[in-house]
Order: sequence, then structure tokens, then C-alpha cells
Amino acid sequence: MKVTVVGAGAVGASCAEYIAIKNFVSEVVLLDIKENYAEGKAMDLMQTASLNDFDTKIVGSTNDYSKTANSDIAVITSGIPRKPGMTREELIGINAGIVKSVAQQLLKHSPEAILIIVSNPMDTMTYLTHQVCGIPKNRIIGMGGALDSARFKYRLAEALECPISDVDGMVIGGHSDKGMIPLTRLATRNSVRVSEFLSNDRLEKVLNDTKVGGATLTSMLGTSAWYAPGAAVSALVHSISCDMKKIFPCSVLLAGEYGLSDLCIGVPVVVGRNGVESIVQIDLNENEKHTLQESAIAVNQTNKLLADLKI
Ligand code: 2OP
Repeated sequence: MKVTVVGAGAVGASCAEYIAIKNFVSEVVLLDIKENYAEGKAMDLMQTASLNDFDTKIVGSTNDYSKTANSDIAVITSGIPRKPGMTREELIGINAGIVKSVAQQLLKHSPEAILIIVSNPMDTMTYLTHQVCGIPKNRIIGMGGALDSARFKYRLAEALECPISDVDGMVIGGHSDKGMIPLTRLATRNSVRVSEFLSNDRLEKVLNDTKVGGATLTSMLGTSAWYAPGAAVSALVHSISCDMKKIFPCSVLLAGEYGLSDLCIGVPVVVGRNGVESIVQIDLNENEKHTLQESAIAVNQTNKLLADLKI
């Protein structure tokens, strides 16, 4: 199994590291436009192999897509990250052109690859990838919900004062500060609804802290986060590579599911060797349905900006 990660910045390098260290693929290619940068990161990571006990080969490449040939999975992290005070949506002007060109070059060398989109605004970049690549919709996955759900579980465990492994929860909707929908009603601590343990006010705080999870880190770090995004990608790549068929909320192209069509937005998805194996339709209550519709309106508004950019 061969995986390419495009963009050797903090997020891309973190994806490569977490994929390599788990030892479930034979090769990771890390590609960047900056001369020798990906090669340097690849070499540094390879020098951790004997210490961290993995045999995954990590190869760096300065924009030479021939090195990515026959990848089974390709992850696109390219583009600029947000700075403090910026929304993910503000990145569209620069990132759309980059994502289009990267996706097309990847597919030229790996026509069967499954693409995982990380670049922001992630839902719109996933939609753009569908538009410019025209490949089956099961092969394009936006990773936002997997990351947002990990942040949700972190906040739930913090509120519950319990280990994160005791907690389960999911975030659907758009990967944006306003559009995320942490499903507090369905979240559990070892099969018990978290509402049994937490007051409405405390749950509301968990919800709000989760929604601004990325922005909080961006203001602390001066740029967007990388460890949890890298780990979220690695979990998706693992489920695809090993055909695990785990459920993650991911941004996928909808055709009527949840009453939505012609946009990519986070919904629960079974992730396996075919990429999106199926979309899981869960029973949302009226409030959750309404919030998802609102989130879709916001994603559609960002998607409309693509037309003005003439990408
Ligand atoms: C985040 O939320 C990078 O969008 C990503 O941290």
C-alpha cells in the first residue's frame, strides 16, 4: 500500500509521521514545492524508524509527481493555513487553485487513488475536487469531521473528568466555526448518554469549545494546528488501507442523503478499501436537522465563491 501526502508543512509532515509510525503501509511519499523540504522531512522521519520501531519507507520529493505514481491513497494538505483571526473560508482564493492543480497532477500518476482533502475551506475544497476530477464520488473524502469529533471527545472527557477512551461522540456539518454540529444528544460515556452526567450549561460549553477548537489553537500557536489533523488523516488512511470499515464523519458529496444534494458536508460515513463504502443516515431530531440545513446553506455560500474565482 502506497500513500502520498502533498504538502510537507506541519500538517502534511504530521500525517506522514502518524501513518508511517503505525506501520500499516509500505511507503509514504511526502511532496512539497519547496526545494528539498520534503526530502529533509522524509529523511528526519526515516531516522526515527529504528527508535519508533516502524519499517514504512518515507520518500521526499520536490514537486516530482512521478515519485507518487501508483499511490493507493493521496492526501492533499497543500495551500496556506489560517492565521489568528482568520476564518477557514478566507483561504479560498489562494487554496482553490492549488488544490485543483495538485488533485489533477496526482490523478495523472495515480488514476485509481482515493483522495483525502485537508486543505481549507475543507468542505469547499472537497467539492472543488469532485468538480475538477470527475472521479467516482466514493474516492473523495474531506477529513474535517474526523478531526472535529476527536476535539469533541477531548472536550467531553475534560467535562466528564474521565479518560477519553470512555467517551464516544461525533461532529457532523461543515468544518467551520459556525457550521460544526457536535451531536451532544447522542454522545456517550461507556454507553450512558453524557446528559446523565453533565448539566445543559456544561454541555453547551462543550459544544461551543468544540466548534472553536481550530480557532482556539490558531490563536495559541499563531498558525493552524497539526497534530490532531495529522492523526485524523492517519486514522482515515488506516481504515481505508486495512479495509476496517470504521465510521467517521467525513465531508462527502451528497445526493439526497439528509435532504441535501450537490455539496460536500460532514456526515457519518463507513470508510473502507473503496473509500466511502456507504453514508450512514442517522435519525436527527428537528433541531439537529435544522442546524444541518443551516450549516449546508453556509457551505453552499462558500461553494458559490468558486464560480467567481473561475477555477
Ligand atoms: C483545523 O481545524 C486544520 O482545519 C484544520 O485545525
